[in-house]
Amino acid sequence: MQIFVDSANLKDIEDSLKRGFASGVTTNPSILAKEPKTEFPLLIRSIIDLLKDYKSTIPLSVEVFTTEPQAMIRQAEEFVDSFGDYPNLNIKVPIGWDELEVIATLRKRDIRVNCTCIMSYNQAMMAANAGANYVSLFWGRIRDVGYDAGVVVREVHETLSKWNNPSQIIVGSIRHIMDVNQAMQSGADIVTIPAQFLPKLCVHPKTDEAVNQFITDFQGWVEK
Ligand code: E4P
Repeated sequence: MQIFVDSANLKDIEDSLKRGFASGVTTNPSILAKEPKTEFPLLIRSIIDLLKDYKSTIPLSVEVFTTEPQAMIRQAEEFVDSFGDYPNLNIKVPIGWDELEVIATLRKRDIRVNCTCIMSYNQAMMAANAGANYVSLFWGRIRDVGYDAGVVVREVHETLSKWNNPSQIIVGSIRHIMDVNQAMQSGADIVTIPAQFLPKLCVHPKTDEAVNQFITDFQGWVEK
């Protein structure tokens, strides 16, 4: 089970790289739009430069921002032309009937694909069978409409495992710490987590209590 960072913020990404737990970075157009205004290629380039500074080749996902299938293919190829010097670039393509052709075409050209915006078992099956390297299931958005995201992820995991399908499950759309825990336990290969949750995954009041007690007890003994 791996943790990706769901962010385009350089400080957030660097904070994760420094701490050694980040196995990937995912972005989408909304995530990019949270950053200070710049040109799209400059922002992606600055993320790649940061990853290279850390001698990292972890997967970086960048999403197409057009909706017409042939334009998606052209845009994906432009991304590869511009950023293909990074050895683990993954193009995010939303799931859809026409988008399956985009996925298949990119895979035939040996371009890695993260199929995104997946809300159901059947969408995941179609993406995996079209050859997507990753199927990104949106935990929070699945729950928003009353479905049990844990059941969807578990069923996708069981079927992909049974048939030895190499697509990996990324769970995104994380809204709470409990989403992370449950996604990990439901069979996600990867959970991609917004940066604000990452420090919270490490804290517990009883940990603070224990550490404070150890320091206080020892200090008292030293000063006796
Ligand atoms: C991950 O790959 C997704 O782009 C992201 O987690 C979507 O999350 P949201 O539902 O908060 O937009």
